[in-house]
Amino acid sequence: MSSAHNDFRQSPPPGANADWTIPQDWASYTSLEHATWDRLYRLQLDLLKDRVVPEFLSGLDLLDMGRGGIPDLQQISKQLMQLTGWRVETVPGLVPAEDFFRHLANRTFVAGRFIRTPEQIDYIPEPDIFHDVFGHVPLLAHPMFANYMQAYGEGGLRSLQFNAIEKLSRLYWYTVEFGLMQTQDGPKIYGAGVVSSATESLFALESNSPNRIGFDLQRVMRTRYRIDDFQQTYFVIDSFKDLLDQTLSVDFAPVYKGLDGETSLTPDLVLAEDKALHIGSQSYARALDGHPRGILSRWPALKTLLPVPFLP
Ligand SMILES: [Fe+2]
Repeated sequence: MSSAHNDFRQSPPPGANADWTIPQDWASYTSLEHATWDRLYRLQLDLLKDRVVPEFLSGLDLLDMGRGGIPDLQQISKQLMQLTGWRVETVPGLVPAEDFFRHLANRTFVAGRFIRTPEQIDYIPEPDIFHDVFGHVPLLAHPMFANYMQAYGEGGLRSLQFNAIEKLSRLYWYTVEFGLMQTQDGPKIYGAGVVSSATESLFALESNSPNRIGFDLQRVMRTRYRIDDFQQTYFVIDSFKDLLDQTLSVDFAPVYKGLDGETSLTPDLVLAEDKALHIGSQSYARALDGHPRGILSRWPALKTLLPVPFLP
């Protein structure tokens, strides 16, 4: 999801329900908006077909997401409900972290309603329905990933008691948004932030610059991340079962406590104990020389991808 922040005092805007949802009002999308979806869909599918995990592609098929035009989320929810018990609702924008977690815990994914304009095809000022629905929803048709997302929401609600949102945000960031998975054919993409970005789809898998490191829960929770450009490290899971095994069976309270005395790690670091699949040159990040591509300035609400605080 895109829309979460940590201002617990805020009330839903006029017209939104108490849980921040609004009607998608699918009939009001224009033909240009539907065409923008179709264009993005074709571009990204072409790029992803050999680079994304097969579960993503089967999710697109199961939900018939390529039927043309912006998906009607009532239809998607009906299909998703039968597959995994999830549904998708639209929200007007920022949603407080607690509401975001509660939705996930209740198997509801909240998505932005709007779609970028044709002029913004390569970037968007904030996550739109293409990022949220194309990027996130196909994997919700996969039972294990669906369970992971619910568990994340439950963990998020608990994290509020431990002042641990930052650590938990790193887990979301390095899995749900920017995760890779090892397959027989090498690493593939499953994170929505990569899946919905043409440039990062190539960079994450094929550039020599970033590290690709085997997933480890505590390692990930210690690792800061970039919000202004491509990631300097991608964490690679073995399977969704592995991700669930490493997270669902864990009592996070002692994990948070154990991490309290630890310093956080910079996004480029490789530790001796890491299971490094690829130690990156970091040439891309170094070449930026203080001039990042400016995702954050172009995408000022990127930080709303996650429950914040967002401390890189
Ligand atoms: Fe997202």
